[in-house]
Amino acid sequence: VTRVLTGITTSGTPHLGNYAGAIRPAIQASTQPGVDAFFFLADYHALIKCDDPERIARSRLEIAATWIAAGLDTDRTTFYRQSDVPEIPELCWMLNCVTAKGLMNRAHAYKASVDANVAKSVEPDDGVTMGLFSYPVLMAADILMFNAHRVPVGRDQIQHLEMARDIAQRFNHLYGRGEDLFVLPEVQIDEDVATLPGLDGRKMSKSYDNTIPLFEGGLKALKAAVARIVTDSRLPGEPKDAEGAHLYTLYRAFATSGQAADFRAALEGGLGWGEAKQALCERIEAQIGPMRERYADLMAHPERIEDILQAGAAKARRTATPLMARLREAVGLRGAA
Ligand code: TYM
Repeated sequence: VTRVLTGITTSGTPHLGNYAGAIRPAIQASTQPGVDAFFFLADYHALIKCDDPERIARSRLEIAATWIAAGLDTDRTTFYRQSDVPEIPELCWMLNCVTAKGLMNRAHAYKASVDANVAKSVEPDDGVTMGLFSYPVLMAADILMFNAHRVPVGRDQIQHLEMARDIAQRFNHLYGRGEDLFVLPEVQIDEDVATLPGLDGRKMSKSYDNTIPLFEGGLKALKAAVARIVTDSRLPGEPKDAEGAHLYTLYRAFATSGQAADFRAALEGGLGWGEAKQALCERIEAQIGPMRERYADLMAHPERIEDILQAGAAKARRTATPLMARLREAVGLRGAA
């Protein structure tokens, strides 16, 4: 059996990047034979970025409803909330104790904060919490707790996966006594959407405020966002540089290769940006439109989501509890002296 695992931080509204980069490939993988899927709401991670309890509570619902509306089979898979599995923070502590501080110094998210502070001429660690600093260790705990083989994510998470492997290797070496306690996880990247661009062409990200919402706001919000995608100033009739246009990259993420080729030819043949945006909207809508009603229905029934998450947590703990017992023994906290 191949274990596939991925999570989403519950600090924002799901956007097309989350969907195309993680949710869609993850659900697709979960339907393959021989795959045992673990998908979760990374709510402890949300506390690193967000201190607004209402935002976090709302995001939890939106992200859970998104997974289910997007077609996740919650009976066949294990769908849970990180904070319902206390073994995860427990494992996180053990991993913290074997993780070199120097490894964390190299983490992109931490380095970006330091660089920004240096640019502003303030203390390098200004505003940097221990949560932000050790974020990759918590992520390693998420993955190693379930001995995941494959982790479908967008390209921005590659470094975290490498760190999880490093930490797993170190732990195996220290405590494995010749037998591996942890599987070394592999990253799974869909190259077509490895980094989905946002409205301005930079990576689509809530921190850049350039996202296209998946379901929130309905078709109206989708259209309004697509209308704001930045293009060059070439007029209808003038040939466009499809490869250089992030509008085309977005289109490709929601189209078959045949549809993408046609669209590219049309752009190169002078299709106007206005029409191109309409075509993009239709492509996206063809895929996500059918899921929208289900999403709205779930959002109106948070108690159903809660029941699903509770059942998922119980299932997740059936894997986490025995492994944690084994780990406590391996490090000498339990068992014979
Ligand atoms: P998060 O919540 O920022 O993003 C969730 C997933 O969406 C992907 N993604 C994108 N993919 C393509 N293009 C984009 N513009 C784009 N924006 C976001 C992310 O790569 C990610 O796969 N630390 C993680 C959550 C996490 C996790 C884990 C993931 C916690 N523990 C264990 C996997 C395994 C994060 O903040 O993702």
